[in-house]
Formats: sequence, structure tokens, C-alpha cells
Amino acid sequence: MSLRLAVLGSGSGSNCQSIFNAIDDGRLDAEVAIVLSDHEDAFILERARKRGVRAEVMDCGGYKNKFPLEVQEAVARQLRELKVDLVCLAGFMRLVKEPLLRAFPNRILNIHPALLPQFPGVEAWTQALQAGAKQTGCTVHYVDAGMDSGEIIMQAYVPVLPGDTPQSLHARIQVQEHILYPAAILSAVSRL
Ligand code: GAR
Repeated sequence: MSLRLAVLGSGSGSNCQSIFNAIDDGRLDAEVAIVLSDHEDAFILERARKRGVRAEVMDCGGYKNKFPLEVQEAVARQLRELKVDLVCLAGFMRLVKEPLLRAFPNRILNIHPALLPQFPGVEAWTQALQAGAKQTGCTVHYVDAGMDSGEIIMQAYVPVLPGDTPQSLHARIQVQEHILYPAAILSAVSRL
């Protein structure tokens, strides 16, 4: 039976696109039931609509970073009604807490642009450059109540090259992210 996914993202949605692509070329036996964003103008919503996937905005009440608990409760209810098996955070920039974690135990994944536990938080690629790291990468992990702290599922390495800018390094990390996320979803599914 094909897996039902929900994808939550705040931005461009290139990782969401990599999941769509993996479904289309047969690497992932899944369908995306819904894409949710906390920004009404996020391109991830465009990508979903273009594909005919349900795309909705979560109203976070004007808070910049907070993910209000009542919104998380409503999202948890909605995703359960849609019979979602796995929730994929793809560039989603708010912390998921108890209402969603309780509704989907060990079923929420996140992709982070660094080799966790190194460089959690925002702009991990800039953090890696500033720390003078020789290599960095990306991680897919289970989400827990901390920031980028849940159990690691898979990682990929990316070298930091002389002359790298934050943009060039992030772009190189994203190439690996797009391979890693569908593979890590498959691995998580095998453990369900
Ligand atoms: C990705 O690089 C993802 O790893 C990162 O945001 C970017 C989203 O890109 N996520 C985080 O930093 C979460 N802490 P996308 O919208 O093109 O998928």
C-alpha cells in the first residue's frame, strides 16, 4: 500500500520537489496528501498546486517563529483525518511540539543542512563556513521536542571548498539533500 505523506515547508520547496520527483520515477512508493506552509507566498505551495496536490497555509497568528499549540493541534487533527503516515519537514522553520509529536510518534522527519549534531539552528551552512569546517553536509533525522536534536536516520557529506560563499556552499549541500531525503524516507518507512 502506498504511503501517505504530508510535507511542511516555509520556503522554496526544492526538497519537497525532490520527494515529488522520487515518487514520479519510482524510487518512492508514496503520495503527498497535503503540503502546508506558514507563509502564504512560499513557493513550496506553488509547486504543490502545480502538481494538483492540496496546498494550504497555516495561520500562525502573525508570530515570526512561534508555532502556536492550537495551530499544531488543528494540523494534527487534519493530518490524521487525511490518514497521513509520515510528516516530512522540508525547510520548515518553526519548532514542532507536543500536539504534533504525540499525534505522529516517530513519524515526523526533518532535513537539516549540516552534519548534526554540528551546527543546529538557522543558516547551518554559514555556521560551517564561519567555524572553518573542512566538510559539512546534511542530515535527515526524526523530530523530537528539541531543535534539530532527534535520532539521525541518514547523513551525506559535502566538502567545503576554498572560495566558498554561503550561497555556493548551500547550493552544494542542496544537491545532496535532494538525493538524501527520499532515501531517508524509504529507510524510515522500513522501520514503521
Ligand atoms: C534546506 O536546505 C533545508 O535543509 C533547510 O532549509 C532549506 C530549505 O530549502 N532547513 C533548515 O535549515 C531547518 N533547520 P527548500 O525550501 O528548497 O527545500
